[in-house]
This record gives sequence, C-alpha cells and structure tokens, in this order.
Amino acid sequence: MADDSANGSDRHGSAHSEGGLKVPYSNGHAAVSASTRAAWTANGQRHYAQIIGWGFQVPDKVITNKDLEAIVDTSDEWIRDRTGIEERHVAADPRETTATLAVAAARKALDVADIPPSKIDLIICSTSSPEYIFPSTACIVQDMLGATNAGAFDLSAACSGFVYALSLARGQILAGDAEYVLVLGSETLSRIVDWTDRNTCVLFGDGAGAVLVAASDVPGGIMATELGSDGSGAATLIVPAGGSAMPPSLETVSSGSHYIKMDGKAVFRFAVRVMAEATEKVLARAGLTTDDVDLVVPHQANVRIIQNSVLRQLRIPEEKVFVNLQKYGNTSTASIPIALCEAIDEGKVKPGDNLVFVGFGAGLTWAACAVQWSVPVGKKSTPNWWQSTRRQATYQAAAARSMWKKAVRRVYDLLPNDPESVPPRGAADAKARSPSRGDVPVNTKE
Ligand code: ACO
Repeated sequence: MADDSANGSDRHGSAHSEGGLKVPYSNGHAAVSASTRAAWTANGQRHYAQIIGWGFQVPDKVITNKDLEAIVDTSDEWIRDRTGIEERHVAADPRETTATLAVAAARKALDVADIPPSKIDLIICSTSSPEYIFPSTACIVQDMLGATNAGAFDLSAACSGFVYALSLARGQILAGDAEYVLVLGSETLSRIVDWTDRNTCVLFGDGAGAVLVAASDVPGGIMATELGSDGSGAATLIVPAGGSAMPPSLETVSSGSHYIKMDGKAVFRFAVRVMAEATEKVLARAGLTTDDVDLVVPHQANVRIIQNSVLRQLRIPEEKVFVNLQKYGNTSTASIPIALCEAIDEGKVKPGDNLVFVGFGAGLTWAACAVQWSVPVGKKSTPNWWQSTRRQATYQAAAARSMWKKAVRRVYDLLPNDPESVPPRGAADAKARSPSRGDVPVNTKE
C-alpha cells in the first residue's frame, strides 16, 4: 500500500542529516521541530518516521504447559511439538487490564526516547481485547499517561494490528500531521479464551508492547508497509458474540459464544502463505531482497508457521529470525513489539540494520513492514535522581489531573445550569468589544 519513495537510505550507511533543524533526543537521535515540519510540508521536502522508543510489559503470573495439563486434556509434549510454546504470562490480577499493560509498556518507550507524554500527537492502540466496545482503550491510556495533546483511537486488525498501526503512524508523520505517534499493541486474551477448549487455550498469552514513532530528518526508519485482508475468512477466527451481530444474552454466555473460536488448520494454511508473500512484497517495495534482511521479527503464533514461511519459503536463515514464543505464547498484536524489545535487549538490532516485521491474524488480515533501524540501542544509563523524580511527578500529575476533571464533571452534573445556554465561542469577547453587535438577536426574519 505505502511506497518507499520517502526513504532514500543507503544500506548500513551512517545516518546523515538532509538539512532542516534538528532537535536532539537524549538517545542521540534527532527529531524535526514543528517549524521545520511545517516548512518541509510547504516546500515538498521529505522526512522520515523513526522508531525512537520501545518497551514491553507482561503480567507476572506464568502458566506452564504442565499447569495446563491439569486444566484440559493436553500434554507439555504436544504443545511444544505442535506450537513451540512452553509457557505464557496471564493477567491473573483483575487490576491488570489491556490499558494498564499498555501504559506500563508506553512509559518504558517514552523513557527510552526521553520524551514527555505531553509531546505525543497521536496514540494508536491495536487490540482485540479492548477494555470496552467504547470508549477506546487508547483514550484510557491517554488519560493515564497524561498525554494531554494527543488524539487517541483503537485499531482492530487482530494479530496484524501492530503493523497496521505502524503504517498509520508513518502516514501521519510523512503527511506532516504528527511529530510523535505512540503505537501500542496490547492484549489480555486470557479474558476471552475458553479455558475448557484445548484447541485455543494452550496458544494465547497476555502482554503489551509499545513504540514511539517520531518525525526525523535522518533517512531510514519505517521504509515501506504492506497491508492485506480477506474477509471471506472471517469465520475461521472469531469471537461470535458480544458485538451487534450477536448481542450478549444469557444464551450467548451459556453457549460460550463470547469466547474465541478458531479453525486452527485453516488459519495455519493461510498464515504460511501470507507471511511469505507479504514479506516478499514489502521488501520489493523497500528496494530490498531477502539477502539484505538482517532480522525478521515475525508474529509469534506457532514456530511451525515461522519455519514453513520465513525459513523454508523465503530461505531466510534461522539466525536472522527472532523467536520468543516459547516464553509468551501468542500475545496477538503485542507479539511483534514484545519480540522487537527482546531482540534489542539481546543485541540483535544495530543502527543500519534492515528489519522486517510480519504478521497475520483474524479478519483475516496480514501486514508487513520494512524498517531501516537508525537509532542507537546501547544499554540505557540509569536515570539520575532528577530524571526519576520528574518522570514520577509527570505521572502523578496525570493521575491528579484526571481525578480533578472527573470531580469537576460531577460538580457540573449537580449545578442547575442549562447546557444549551452556553454562548457561542468568542461571543463574550465580541460583546465586550461591541456591545450593540453582541445584543443582535439571532434567527430573526425580515
Ligand atoms: N493438546 C493435545 N491434543 C490436541 C490439542 C491440544 N492442545 N489441540 C488439538 N489436539 C489434537 C486434535 O484434537 C487432533 O486430534 P485427532 O487427530 O484425534 O482429531 C490432533 O491433536 C491434531 O490436531 P490438529 O488441529 O491437526 O493440530 P495441528 O497440528 O494443526 O495444530 C494448531 C493445531 C496448533 C492450533 C495449529 O493448527 C495452529 O497453530 N494453527 C494456527 C493458529 C493460530 O496461529 N491462531 C492465531 C492467529 S492470530 C490472531 O488473530 C489471534
């Protein structure tokens, strides 16, 4: 869908400036200032969407394959052989939700970038287990972070959602509409999994990953994206009840229609095909071949899907494919950002590397993204006293602001004022400047 025309990066070339003012990040990277962005948009110069912060969060509670043997008719051996999964993290504490996991991951990403929440222009939260049908989980995250200048919305594309969201973030930045976009993939699928269905409950885990995407004049970053869908396969992976097609009722609950239903074999066949195709397409769009790829970070659903698609069909060697599904299971849209964070921690990502993120999921959907990594990834120095205090204060202020606004709303509810009596914007000023004009009645007919 998107093209790579905005990216003229050399492979493994050093990041260089193409002109325009630069605002240095503390991690050594450079973002464009708002004025430069406006100037670029005006004179047609290009800029780039770089991932400058990253973080992930998983719940503490771990459920091993052995633990599952006590719940359903399965075995550690079957799960390892057929999926590669050994354990998964599950939000056992009811206070852990899709939003709280996302907020924890987002704070880490903002810390890495050293950017305050007030600078975020847009929050995109990809999730299939949102807090509510509405409001969006992204809005709850916005409030908890204190991202007072951000728009926020949820994106539903199942396990492909994180890459869909990266594509939108890139578009917003290249259009000059946003400088910082917070992209989140967060799930608590354990809350919509049927723990008596061995076909699904052994596969999924909970967690969240976040990246901060920033406008930059350093070439590279998110170079190309490839998004796809095939709604004819909608029924192969579905939560049938709870939406407008089948509203919740005693019957939907008693029949378990509010849980994930999956035709595993059909999803498997589809996944193997689209993972390879999407990777090829996105590489072509970025002007790269499979030989140019330094690391593939695939959706972590089943190690056999990764082996049959990325390794066998594309012949990308095992050492260039990051796999951590043995520890987390399939965390849906969170799996790629969690894997990216661990790949960075393990020193598998360096400036100049070409990365591919590729995923598939319910919808059916698929998505791939080619990224030329450009920011330093060295171990972060521990924040000093002032930095820690400032961060703590920022989030405490966000919580206080949220409580204050809620309290004000409650007071307004008690006041006997008429909401329709609010004067038009600027009316008070106009009246002050020209009382006679302000008194002219509206809608009077000649
Ligand atoms: N433990 C033990 N046996 C099992 C289990 C289990 N947990 N699950 C299934 N079996 C049995 C089946 O009943 C079947 O038994 P039978 O031969 O007596 O009928 C046998 O194992 C083989 O079953 P298959 O379905 O053929 O197993 P398969 O090798 O296809 O693996 C799996 C099943 C793991 C679900 C695989 O098909 C798969 O990974 N599919 C993709 C699923 C996926 O990735 N979904 C997420 C998409 S992302 C998103 O949007 C959320």
